[in-house]
Amino acid sequence: MTASTAAPSTAAPATAATAATLTLTRPDDWHLHLRDGAAMAAVLPYTARQFARAIVMPNLKAPVTTAAAALAYRDRILAALPVGLDFTPLMTLYLTDRLAAEEVDRAKAAGVVAVKLYPAGATTHSDAGVTDIRKCYPALEAMQRAGLLLLVHGEVTDPAVDLFDREAVFIDQVMVPLRRDFPALRVVFEHITTREAAQYVAGAGAHTAATITAHHLLFNRNAIFLGGLRPHYYCLPVLKRESHRQALVAAATSGSDRFFLGTDSAPHAAALKEASVCGAGCFTALSALELYAQAFDAAGALDKLQGFASHHGPDFYGLPRNTGTVTLARQPWVLPEALPFGEAQLRPLCGGETLAWRQQD
Ligand code: NCD
Ligand code: ZN
Repeated sequence: MTASTAAPSTAAPATAATAATLTLTRPDDWHLHLRDGAAMAAVLPYTARQFARAIVMPNLKAPVTTAAAALAYRDRILAALPVGLDFTPLMTLYLTDRLAAEEVDRAKAAGVVAVKLYPAGATTHSDAGVTDIRKCYPALEAMQRAGLLLLVHGEVTDPAVDLFDREAVFIDQVMVPLRRDFPALRVVFEHITTREAAQYVAGAGAHTAATITAHHLLFNRNAIFLGGLRPHYYCLPVLKRESHRQALVAAATSGSDRFFLGTDSAPHAAALKEASVCGAGCFTALSALELYAQAFDAAGALDKLQGFASHHGPDFYGLPRNTGTVTLARQPWVLPEALPFGEAQLRPLCGGETLAWRQQD
């Protein structure tokens, strides 16, 4: 495929593969970490510039476990939003063994849209997560009744299971029984990373969907080790081998409405990423759309990006699609290597590298 920056000629209508610009219905990010305080104020404008809405993850240091905490967090996000940016945070609760059905009902009444399941110990700030999903059945029943979605970090935490197999094992041990016991609950298998997860979601019926990150579409696990250990490519679920990346690209570009955009942009201070124990998470919010465009372009599937980024998510959540548009142009630019992050610095994934697409203001 040749990149072209020329204006499309009238004689040969531009195809998605050769067009110099790409205009999409304004997209949403269905999986995002915004953090809190100065860190949130630093990263929020990047997301609000690209996306109309985002599902805001509840894994703060003190996790968001009540409707009142979700509303207070929502207010802090809106207070940090720069004037002139039109952005709606969609709030989530953090599932614990003790989440009461009454709290689920209060959350629904407060406008919370989903509850996030972190297996205890699976990832960043998941210590308060679920130790045994059967303890959550009263909360899951209340969610199914109220129409709140369940968002799942789909990895087992058993140390006997190889890190690269934890998603596939989770399907058999948790997803299959969960689907059987709560057939009407809408479930999003978040940030899927394997062929097994893509196949499972494709065959699991209309109430199961998945988000896919840009970095899992663009990179395989070699990226973590290329020329030395590269902490900024370390996230959870960890990048997998190339055959899995190809399966994710096939799912994302298939046109199936059960796969949609969720960046899992997860900022950590550079000093904490570049440490002897490196936190899990890739920061991609600065150029999320451009990274997705690169992945879809490489697959010759730019015509499928709008469904994935802008239509499938709201349709699955039962929310209206956005009305505005965003435009990307083929316009190479170099991503900054570092950004301010409160008192610290933040290194965007692919910092210092050239991206082919650029969002137009
Ligand atoms: C996320 C974070 O830093 O909060 N990290 C990550 O690697 N994705 C947590 C998560 O979504 O697993
Ligand atoms: Zn996440």
